[in-house]
Amino acid sequence: MDLKLRVWRQAGPDVPGEFKTYDAPDINPAMSFLELLDVVNERLMERDEEPIAFEHDCREGICGSCGVMINGQPHGPVPKTATCELHLRHFSEGDVITVEPWRASGFPVIRDLVVDRSAFDRIIEAGGYISVPTGSAPDANLVPVPKDASETAMDAAACIGCGACVAACPNGAAQLFTSAKAAHLNLLPQGQPERWTRVTAMVDQMESEFGSCTNYGECQAACPVDISIDFIAMLNRDYLTAKFKDRRRTGQ
Ligand code: FES
Repeated sequence: MDLKLRVWRQAGPDVPGEFKTYDAPDINPAMSFLELLDVVNERLMERDEEPIAFEHDCREGICGSCGVMINGQPHGPVPKTATCELHLRHFSEGDVITVEPWRASGFPVIRDLVVDRSAFDRIIEAGGYISVPTGSAPDANLVPVPKDASETAMDAAACIGCGACVAACPNGAAQLFTSAKAAHLNLLPQGQPERWTRVTAMVDQMESEFGSCTNYGECQAACPVDISIDFIAMLNRDYLTAKFKDRRRTGQ
């Protein structure tokens, strides 16, 4: 199939970018979207032109590194599909496909389609972990976990941290990511000792880096792994509870 790509090219964080158009003739429709970018890059390099910078690692929807805006939608037109899982059969002969990096102030562009997502790392560093003594593995079933809690925690843990939720949100908010990362710990017994300090620290860090949620719900629609906005409600409830507990503790 013959395609055309309009790609955002930007040589660095502090220089202006622009769209450039590339013809992509003779493309195998069985290819994935990232394979299309590979082919376009090979052809660019054969002409001694700079290849398009884009992120990828697993190419199977696990690592979350590949996200880009495709025709204005995070990860493209197919719901619950990461960019690396998107295949060209979802496009038509002659299509002009616009490819951009995530557009959010929390994710500054590093180069072309690559953005700096270290703000997500800082949210995790603030509290997205449990402190456990190392040592021998505990006996199986030593800590009973209710089935509903374990399944909901696993749903939250499915978040791949790609940033599509932020890119889709008109406010550039990171509530869906933060709520998933807090919930998969807060729902389990092992996550209880640090639950309230975790929520407070993660939310405070999130608010210092991203916009605020006003319930558009675009994040859930854009999420390639179908994280529910119910986790945002859970996060808000836990944050309020944490603040209330803190006020009782400090007597203010
Ligand atoms: S490359 Fe890992 S999720 Fe797409």
